[in-house]
Amino acid sequence: MLEHKQAKIPTHNRHLIRWVEKMVDLCQPDGIHWVDGSQEEYDRLCGELVSAGTFLKLNEERWPGCFYARSSASDVARVEDRTFICSLSKDNAGPTNNWKDPFVMRKKLKSLFRGSMKGRTMYVLPYSMGPIGSPFSQIGVQLTDSAYAVVNMRIMARIGKPVFAEIDKDLKRVVPCMHSVGAPLAPGEQDVPWPQNETKYIVHFPETREIWSYGSGYGGNALLGKKCFALRIASNIARDEGWMAEHMLLLGVESPEGEKTYVAAAFPSACGKTNFAMLIPPKGFDGWKVWTVGDDIAWIKPDATGHLRAINPESGFFGVAPGTSAKTNPNAMATLKKNSIFTNVALITKNGVPTGDVWWEGMTDEPPAEALDWQGKPWTPASSTPAAHPNGRFTAPASQCPSIDPAWEDPAGVPIAAIIFGGRRATTMPLVYQAFNWSSGVYAGATMGSEMTAAAAGKLGVVRRDPMAMLPFCGYHMGDYFRHWLRMQKKLKRTPRIFHVNWFRKDEQGRFLWPGFSQNMRVLKWIVDRATGKVGSDETPIGWTPRYDDMHWEGLEFSKTQFDQLQEVNHQAWTEEVMGHEQLFLLLHDHLPPEMIYERELLICRM
Ligand code: OXD
Ligand code: MN
Repeated sequence: MLEHKQAKIPTHNRHLIRWVEKMVDLCQPDGIHWVDGSQEEYDRLCGELVSAGTFLKLNEERWPGCFYARSSASDVARVEDRTFICSLSKDNAGPTNNWKDPFVMRKKLKSLFRGSMKGRTMYVLPYSMGPIGSPFSQIGVQLTDSAYAVVNMRIMARIGKPVFAEIDKDLKRVVPCMHSVGAPLAPGEQDVPWPQNETKYIVHFPETREIWSYGSGYGGNALLGKKCFALRIASNIARDEGWMAEHMLLLGVESPEGEKTYVAAAFPSACGKTNFAMLIPPKGFDGWKVWTVGDDIAWIKPDATGHLRAINPESGFFGVAPGTSAKTNPNAMATLKKNSIFTNVALITKNGVPTGDVWWEGMTDEPPAEALDWQGKPWTPASSTPAAHPNGRFTAPASQCPSIDPAWEDPAGVPIAAIIFGGRRATTMPLVYQAFNWSSGVYAGATMGSEMTAAAAGKLGVVRRDPMAMLPFCGYHMGDYFRHWLRMQKKLKRTPRIFHVNWFRKDEQGRFLWPGFSQNMRVLKWIVDRATGKVGSDETPIGWTPRYDDMHWEGLEFSKTQFDQLQEVNHQAWTEEVMGHEQLFLLLHDHLPPEMIYERELLICRM
């Protein structure tokens, strides 16, 4: 007899209840828990995770309300090669996604999920992406056998009782999300701290708006509101409904006069989105302030007056820990100081005993004398491997961020004046340029790329095209996605201005030409001033660029010669760059909007 039949079910949505019952029959959990989202429930689940050995409570004085977890070594990141878009037609998934016939995949998933929750509790986790009740928001219900996923989701999304109320009130469409770590327990079998399965499937059915995730308990594979829903499924919903689900941070720039301008920015992973979203203006910017709305995902919609407004659908940050410090991102450090969860970073020890403190590479100038690394092995600064996994993460509530924008939960979103694209490019790309118009801006976003680092199998300097930073996240054909971007213009009275930035240009000796970090405020100011019509520019073949005197230099010694080097548009390099765009276009040719070809031709002609 199912335990939940006796318990009070917190929804009267019959479709939801019937689906839960069907999934219980399939997965055969020992019990079922309807998540209410309360602090008491969170505390109890964290306590259970401590007892299970998944969590370790950190020092309550130094890290109040914080927990530490270590995953299994084969479950440390999103698994792009195990991520599938199972649209009815392969053509709809496009060449940049893995596709499998949905009928075949459903059969496979049914067999994997059959009995997969034996010996475990199934949590029924309702969540809202976006503030509850906002016209932007979307609701999902995740059935999961991972309490770790539930407590992380409580930080990353609005969950529990108010979401059930929302489901009941509106009979809203709910995105069903199945999640199992794929580690059933036989009667009496001892659990492991991080249950998972070597076989992993992260599957999306775009037409029926379903997510099925099997075998992983980590990050984007398990917190299904994030990449699976808010990007892959939401990009499909957005295309059908005429809005945009983007891999973008959102921030507001406030001038000393109190004028606020919001921008959205798309950078591929490992290009500093979280740092940019939480930027603190440098010396020379008295009275300026940057406000954080979101660091990873933006849902953007035209309002009744034909202007784009955006929300951050998340309520927390799932940030990469290594490299985050009081120097690189003081706002992030303040955010994660309490009520946060740390996964796969290092634990400081004294004489081999954990002190209840976490550490990661770059957190402090001086590493601790000893620690346990992300796999629990003794570590010292002399060790040849890093203490924290490069993808070690913090899960921290956005409300704790000192720079969180007062309007970050405004159900109407914030108005978007500019969109910024950017990548990591040692050559070719200037520090900043503005696209001539919407379609040339879409071209800049569509062709954006990032250089592979030395870690990526000897392909140093090779540019990977990552259109709008959506390569792993666009839930349909990339060519159709470009068309959707172009079509958005028709819904708008005024389009946001589009810019491209590159903080990573180097000189011939391999030294960065731009100091980066808080100095990026200078670029941001020019962007905001351009978007609000306050500053001039030069015309170049690729777009408008700032002249030296258009930039605010107070507080930084940076000569015109240095600036000109940083902004140089080299014709030879750009000829090669445009040839590189061709590769992407060939891949997408049968769905590529003609505007992309025209933009490319125009660019060639101007050069
Ligand atoms: C992320 C990513 O985790 O883009 O945000 O990989
Ligand atoms: Mn991301």
